[in-house]
Amino acid sequence: MRAVPPPFLLVRPPAAPPESLAEYRARGGYAALVDLSARGTGPTLLDEIERAGLRGRGGAAFPTARKWRLAAAASGPDKHVVANGGEHEPGSGKDRFLVENYPHTVLDGLLLAALATGANHGWLYLIEDMHGPLASVDRALAELRASDIGGDAPLPITVHRGPPTYVAGEETAALESIEGRPARPRKKPPFPGEAGLFGQPTTVNNVETLAHAAWIARHGAAAFAAVGTAESKGTLLFTLGNEVLRPGIHELPFGATWRHLIEDRGGGLTDGRRLRAILPAMSCGFVLAEHLDLPIAYETLRAIGSSPGCGGVRLVDDRTDVVALTLEIAAFFMREQCGQCPPCRMETNQFVHILKAVQAGKGPGYDDKLQRLADFSKKKGNCSLIEMAAAPVLSALRCFAADFARAAGPAQPPAN
Ligand SMILES: Cc1cc2nc3c(=O)[nH]c(=O)nc-3n(C[C@H](O)[C@H](O)[C@H](O)COP(=O)(O)O)c2cc1C
Repeated sequence: MRAVPPPFLLVRPPAAPPESLAEYRARGGYAALVDLSARGTGPTLLDEIERAGLRGRGGAAFPTARKWRLAAAASGPDKHVVANGGEHEPGSGKDRFLVENYPHTVLDGLLLAALATGANHGWLYLIEDMHGPLASVDRALAELRASDIGGDAPLPITVHRGPPTYVAGEETAALESIEGRPARPRKKPPFPGEAGLFGQPTTVNNVETLAHAAWIARHGAAAFAAVGTAESKGTLLFTLGNEVLRPGIHELPFGATWRHLIEDRGGGLTDGRRLRAILPAMSCGFVLAEHLDLPIAYETLRAIGSSPGCGGVRLVDDRTDVVALTLEIAAFFMREQCGQCPPCRMETNQFVHILKAVQAGKGPGYDDKLQRLADFSKKKGNCSLIEMAAAPVLSALRCFAADFARAAGPAQPPAN
């Protein structure tokens, strides 16, 4: 295997206390922000982010420079940037880890995004139960305000505490919450870039995306783009759970293999279990163990019907009941859908209903029913939760067809 380059973001020992302003500045933090602000060169930063090929780490992998350019071109006296740390997916902890341990990296990225897009207000969107990250950010903001960064102007950053629901991390649900309403996704268009917070142009980025932007501003696009694959540049954060010997947050360059993540970083599966498949995040397709040596990248995963998602990895082993796991995931989406869009409400409920029937051995025609339901609901919600819920279910049917057929029992003769 190629030598794995050093991490970009997680450069300190995992148990170290949150990084202080002095430590962050000592390794070059905020220097690009101070320099670019003094020279008024937001457009230079935009070019750099574009050349780096940075894509969003919140799950959808949208090109960051394209989003920032739209915001920069939007007119109006007030614009906003929202750093989205609303992570609430079971099994994913990378955003809260980053915010708690590297608060200045995230704030640096947020201020750089504001500079590049011409925004005059920044928001750090966290969840009310994220006590460690909230305390860390409060401390970091106090340090920042007492420093010379930002000159005489007050730092326009507000921390918002959103509700502890999955949908609250969707970008327009986050905007609703900031505006004081229940965190439910808005109908789009208009997109936040056109009319976001308080009807004003708003850029929403995942906190990890912003941390990478800060790295690029400091080290340059070429250094970032030198790591990764043709379409997937830089590094990304994964969360490994208790299925491996060394659970925790791991940073890997794109192009590293699943085997490297699970065996070298994670120490392999516990109890001598045998890996059957990887679910890169709850809203993705399964990656079968035969792809353990596949380089992790948007393009390689797309080719097998999956994606890196938010990197909250779940593992399927030889003792996993895959029907029960699929039902657990479907039940999660049923519980977490916000109830606003009837097709999403119906689809997520029906998925659970059909999978329960399969589990009870009474599931003839389940695969057609699930597929038809997913086809019917596609793109009918205010947000993509409807598609997110369908992806792991349909993928499970393909990857574990024999397990489902066994659970569903013998096919019934058609009724006359
Ligand atoms: C149901 C749902 C939940 C989401 N939760 C999060 C979240 O917790 N954090 C996040 O950054 N993005 C989340 N997203 C994606 C955001 O809507 C948005 O695409 C993202 O914050 C954009 O940042 P990026 O371009 O930097 O990835 C969610 C999307 C959906 C549909």
